Amino acid sequence: MQKRRLLLVLGIVISALTGWFFATRWDSPVTGDQADAPPKKSGVFRIAFGSCNKQWKPNPMWKAILNCKPDVWIWLGDSIYAPTKDMAYLQSQYKLQKGKPEYQELTRNCRVIGTWGDNDYGMKNGNRSYSKKAESQQLFLDFLDEPADSVRRKQQGVYASYLFGESGKQIKVILLDEYYHADEPSADSDLLGEEQWSWLAGELQESRNKVVLLGSSIQLLPSEHPYGHWGDFPKSRQRLLSMLSEVKPKLTVIASGDRHLAEISRSDDSGLRYPLYEITSSGLTHHVDSIYHVRSFFSPERNRYRVGSLLYERNFGLVDIDWSSGVPALSFEIRNQENQIGLQESFPSFARPWP
Ligand SMILES: [Fe+2]
Repeated sequence: MQKRRLLLVLGIVISALTGWFFATRWDSPVTGDQADAPPKKSGVFRIAFGSCNKQWKPNPMWKAILNCKPDVWIWLGDSIYAPTKDMAYLQSQYKLQKGKPEYQELTRNCRVIGTWGDNDYGMKNGNRSYSKKAESQQLFLDFLDEPADSVRRKQQGVYASYLFGESGKQIKVILLDEYYHADEPSADSDLLGEEQWSWLAGELQESRNKVVLLGSSIQLLPSEHPYGHWGDFPKSRQRLLSMLSEVKPKLTVIASGDRHLAEISRSDDSGLRYPLYEITSSGLTHHVDSIYHVRSFFSPERNRYRVGSLLYERNFGLVDIDWSSGVPALSFEIRNQENQIGLQESFPSFARPWP
């Protein structure tokens, strides 16, 4: 009996030490030192994105992001952490984030767009039952400086699309809202709501000859982990993948967040003529904790689509679309606060001529 108790205590101590070791290992000091940012060639359109930003914490990432000179910054969820029904509090937390000089510099130097996660939506693991969603939507759009007459202020939910680049070299960014209309997760439940589904179908149809970056707060391809993803809504996940394989946009890439870690996934069985990549970047101010590391020590996180390894540092994502050869060549990077590359993949060409 005593031996069993001893083994139990030993197990707990080993688990705690394992978690502490892995959690601190990735916690690089906030130095602000910068490795060389990747130079941007002419003809390259650069999109930077990230998620999970605790507004009360220092965020050295802004300096690294600015050094990369992105054309666009995309918030992919949890721009602040304020799950609440108190709209005055929510507004004050957006104000706190918006008042940060480094963030203000970013908004002065590149276009800032975004969608929300559960923590800025206002309801942890949020869904359509959140009673303050209409008010919260307006505060989120205020944070993004959405014009007063924008259609986005009149619809239900913050989904939106943007077209960047000159004719023949256009990138369509489609941002989804995965909270305003979401059911509770179940086999048949819906994530987007019919209005957003039909909007999305139209956006994809219209983008068949463009590069499409589909921004999702939660992960679409990886669905073997227990932390929240499209796989919790299997019917919706299948509906989205079927929509992509039916419309067959010329070139689609998915960007996602939420996980407090980074990874790159690649599906070769999506029904598209090219590999479907998903770049997941999270978080900007924090990463997975010791509990995650203890769990993954005994049961490593699986993702059959993963290319390379998981990255546990604070990070942001970069997508470069290089049109210099006339055919879009894409490259993806996950970078840390020192602007060092943590993960990268490139997608230099694909089978069919463009357009
Ligand atoms: Fe988060």
